[in-house]
Amino acid sequence: MAALASTPGALPAAGAGQKFDFDTPYNRVGTNSIKWDAQLRNFGAGSLVAGMGISDTDFRTAPVITEALNQRLKHENWGYLDMPRSFPETIISWNKRRYGIEIHPDRMLLSTGVHPSIISALRAFSPRGSKVLMLTPAYDGFFGDITAAGCVAEQCPMKLVDNRYQIDLEELDRHISADTKSLILCNPSNPTGNVWTAAELTAVGELCTRRGVVVLVDEIHCDFVTPGHKYTPYCLLPNREVVMNSVTFKSASKAFSLSALKCGWMYSDNASYIARIAATGHSGDINTLGVVATQAAYTGGEPWLAELVAYIDGNHDFTEKYLREKAPLIRYTKAQGTYLAWLDVNPLIAKLGAAEKAAAATRQKPAGARPVTASMLVQDFLVKQAKVQINPGSAYGFVGEGRMRMNLATSRKTLALALDNIAGAIARL
Ligand SMILES: Cc1ncc(COP(=O)(O)O)c(C=O)c1O
Repeated sequence: MAALASTPGALPAAGAGQKFDFDTPYNRVGTNSIKWDAQLRNFGAGSLVAGMGISDTDFRTAPVITEALNQRLKHENWGYLDMPRSFPETIISWNKRRYGIEIHPDRMLLSTGVHPSIISALRAFSPRGSKVLMLTPAYDGFFGDITAAGCVAEQCPMKLVDNRYQIDLEELDRHISADTKSLILCNPSNPTGNVWTAAELTAVGELCTRRGVVVLVDEIHCDFVTPGHKYTPYCLLPNREVVMNSVTFKSASKAFSLSALKCGWMYSDNASYIARIAATGHSGDINTLGVVATQAAYTGGEPWLAELVAYIDGNHDFTEKYLREKAPLIRYTKAQGTYLAWLDVNPLIAKLGAAEKAAAATRQKPAGARPVTASMLVQDFLVKQAKVQINPGSAYGFVGEGRMRMNLATSRKTLALALDNIAGAIARL
């Protein structure tokens, strides 16, 4: 068994002058969290020192948010909410101030999250049974949204050049057919960490516009961009026709760890697109605490977020260096954005003989059952031998196989412990 001790001596100190504490591990076990509790339920009590799967953070949220929520809790009635006008105004002014985005209040819909927004948009643009295009590897949740809307996922694989994913426009063009009505695009990309440039977004947008495919842009990870890269809001692209053929989806939930408060929104410069989505019966019935938390985040949370983004960037650097030096069977090229590390575990798969074992396990399954993949076996290996849970790449489309997605949004101490355990487990092979 791996020594379950971290290497604090090797830990880089938190940034000088840092006001907020991201370094002290915050125990989420016992709160019904998917990232920790659901994994302990799946793999057994005591099976984990680090849950690094689902995409939320392990940090206490910004103190201004907790203060606002505590204030609201003093009023002990939770009856129906008359949505304050100040709420959409707060969202609009955050997007304007931070990114230069002009959201027209009439061309925006509130939502209980990005998933419900995307499902409503698919219902508006993609008839049941039609194809919804994705650039894969793609966020696994999109597959669920497409199924929920009664559509069929069409995977357009990206190409890997120097260990970076690139969009293959010719391939994308080939994947569009008469019944392809929408494309889901993620920027920054979960899971690959790409931050798409204006030129890349424009090229995809022009192709889709020419082929009559609406572009649904998920920018939920936009706050996490590493130095040297820039988040380009799709709605600010210079080609007006491209912008008018899009809808953007957002939430404060990734940046401020508010996912279970169920609050998001979507907008488009194209009023008719928003009208079509509204006509599906889309519900913007957000709960009171989601409104309070988001409003607090967007009025007073920016200094906290700035420190968090820098801390996450440090986690990316730490992970890249650590794996290169101590666990080279796992390769990691630093992400351009998000707090996710898209790891290449092909050398580890080879060492474990996981591809052959997965094929043999699949043969034992009834015909039509979900196949066992090599990355699923890597997940099992890491849970059993390192007590760390990370997500198998096969969940992100067929080209995701050979990869694992590791969530780095945790204290550096927990990250170091997880990496030590992983390196130890590999060393014992
Ligand atoms: C790219 C992306 N979109 C959407 C979601 C889910 O958003 P929500 O919780 O607002 O439905 C996630 C969560 O992991 C995500 O990574």
